[in-house]
Amino acid sequence: MIIRPRRLRASPEIRALTNETRLNHNMLVYPMFVREGKNIIEEISAMPGQFRYSPDKFCKALENVVAHKIQSVLLFGIPEDEKKDLTASAAYDENGVIQQAVKIAKREFPDLNIITDVCMCEYTSHGHCGIVNDNTHSIENDLSLEILKRIAVSQAQAGANIVAPSAMFDGQVNAIRTALDENGFENTLICSYAVKYASGFYGPFREAAGSAPSFGDRKTYQMNPKNVREAVKEALIDINEGADILIVKPGLAYLDVLKTVKEKIYNPVASYQVSGEYAMIKAAVTRGWLNEETIISECAVSFARAGADIIITYFAKELADLISEGRL
Ligand code: PBG
Repeated sequence: MIIRPRRLRASPEIRALTNETRLNHNMLVYPMFVREGKNIIEEISAMPGQFRYSPDKFCKALENVVAHKIQSVLLFGIPEDEKKDLTASAAYDENGVIQQAVKIAKREFPDLNIITDVCMCEYTSHGHCGIVNDNTHSIENDLSLEILKRIAVSQAQAGANIVAPSAMFDGQVNAIRTALDENGFENTLICSYAVKYASGFYGPFREAAGSAPSFGDRKTYQMNPKNVREAVKEALIDINEGADILIVKPGLAYLDVLKTVKEKIYNPVASYQVSGEYAMIKAAVTRGWLNEETIISECAVSFARAGADIIITYFAKELADLISEGRL
C-alpha cells in the first residue's frame, strides 16, 4: 500500500480544510508615522507606499486603514528638528505630535487598538534611544527610565490602549508598569519589544523617523544577533516585570528566535516585519523580480507558523485585503 499524504493537497478546498496555519484580520498591526506640521503627506523614500502624515492629514489616512478591516495600529511620532534635545522632552509634551495623533485616533475610531512606540530616539538630538553620558557616550540606563515613564504616561493620558517600549533598557517594563499604575492607567497594556536585535534591517525606519544615531550605534543596548538563549532570558524578564505582549524583531531573519521564545512563555507573541524587510520586497517587486502577493503571503504564513499570534507589518493593508478576498 502506498501511503498518500498528497491526498491532503489534492484541491484548493481540501488544502483549505487541512491548513495548519490560519491568518485573520485581528492579528494584523499596521505601523504609521505622524510628523509635526500641517498639510503634509510625505512618502518615505526607502519605503515606497508608506507615508509620514501631519496630524491634520492623519484622520483620513486612518479612515483608509480601518476600511481595510485593520483593527490595530502602531504609532510613531516625529517632532520638528528644532524640538529635538538631549532629554527627548518633545516625547512627553501633552500637546506633542504623538499625543495629538493618539487623541485624533481615539476620538474618530474609539474601537481601534492604539499602540504607541515608547522610545526617545525620534526625539533626541543625537538619535540615541536614551540619555547619553557626555564623557563616555554610553547610555545612562536608569536616568533614561525616568523619561520613558513620562512618555508612557503621557501617551496613556492621550488615550493609547497599549504602550510599546522599544528602547531595550534594563528595567523599562517594570518602570513603565509602575508609573502607569500610579497614574491610574492599570488597564493600559504593555507590549514590550522584549527581543529586539541590533539589526541592519531598521535602516529605512531611521530615515522615516529621522532617528539614525549621529555617533556610535545601538549595539550596547539592542541584542546580539548571535544569541538566542539570551532572547528567552529577555522575554522572561519582561514578563516578570509585567509585560502583556512580547515582540520579537526583526521578522524573517529571526524566526528561530520567535519559535524558541514562543515555546518558553505563555504570553501572546508578535513578530515585527521591519522597514528593511518591507524595502527589500518592494525593491524586488518594483523591478518585477518577485510577485508581491505571493511573497507577502508566504512571509505572513511563516510568522504565524513559527508561532506569532500578532504580525506587525507595513504590508498589513495588503494582507488584510488578501484575507478578505479569501486568498490567504
Ligand atoms: C525605536 C524603534 C525602531 C524601530 C521600531 N522602534 C528603530 C530602531 O531601534 O533603530 C524599527 C522599526 C522598523 O525598522 O520598521 N527605537
